[in-house]
Amino acid sequence: MSELLVVEDLTVTFPTSRGPVDVVKGVSFTVGRDETVGIVGESGSGKSMTSLAVMGLLPKGAGTSGSIRLDGAELLGRPDRELRGLRGDRMSMIFQDPLSSLNPYYTVGLQIEEMYRAHRGGSRKAARRVTIEALEQVGLPDPARRVDHYPHQFSGGQRQRIMIAMALVCGPELLIADEPTTALDVTVQAQILRLLDGLRRESGMGMVFITHDLAVISSIATRVLVMRQGEQVEYGTAEQVFAEPRHEYTKMLLESIPRIDDPLTDEVTPA
Ligand SMILES: Nc1ncnc2c1ncn2[C@@H]1O[C@H](COP(=O)(O)OP(=O)(O)OP(=O)(O)O)[C@@H](O)[C@H]1O
Ligand SMILES: [Mg+2]
Repeated sequence: MSELLVVEDLTVTFPTSRGPVDVVKGVSFTVGRDETVGIVGESGSGKSMTSLAVMGLLPKGAGTSGSIRLDGAELLGRPDRELRGLRGDRMSMIFQDPLSSLNPYYTVGLQIEEMYRAHRGGSRKAARRVTIEALEQVGLPDPARRVDHYPHQFSGGQRQRIMIAMALVCGPELLIADEPTTALDVTVQAQILRLLDGLRRESGMGMVFITHDLAVISSIATRVLVMRQGEQVEYGTAEQVFAEPRHEYTKMLLESIPRIDDPLTDEVTPA
């Protein structure tokens, strides 16, 4: 398994009136091709900041140090123009809140088509065909008709599928899914999880899956990073972290998991 993403000693700092504050403190992890790495931790532990740093999407004023390499090439310090070329193409992110990432004034089809054409060019017609295919791939019912609908015409689970279609339309090598199921009810969560896991397997991309739910991680991740207050408290293979957690905090997280045998075995039905 060759390494697709290598994050080394990543620190993210914000200036405050009381001086600089580190919200991510020396985090290191790697994601192989065809691998899912889970990042878990309580609210505010730095999970989103870590992923935004990888995507080059940190809020203005944030400082970084360390190294983030995608397929061997350093991303930290790269001009935004270059990072924009990579985002949506070689690396994509599914954000915590699907509604805020879709523009309410444009049809979902147009939004996906524009994303595709920004990277791949080609005709409107070709982009539309690829878009309908992508919507079909994520299990959206009747994609040829639904492509012309607006975000508010879809359910929460459907919007999440649309976000996944948009993230995957250019066939990225790396996908970061930041708590993609938190806003959904439990059955839909399981469907989306299965869908993402299946799409990742088919394409062989590397995935970073962020959640505060260790049960979810245990069903899809091969490696796990546990964060707390910006620090990396544990990092290892899923077997190792689940069987022999080294840190008290991980033990506590593990003890709070309700017993779910296998959340991935339900039938797949569109959300
Ligand atoms: N724009 C900002 N300026 C300064 N600090 C910020 C900013 N945005 C977030 N933070 C701080 O960074 C820390 C890490 O936030 P982050 O969003 O990465 O947490 P998280 O682990 O993703 O939490 P959640 O599970 O709630 O999404 C938090 O303490 C937060 O208060
Ligand atoms: Mg977050």
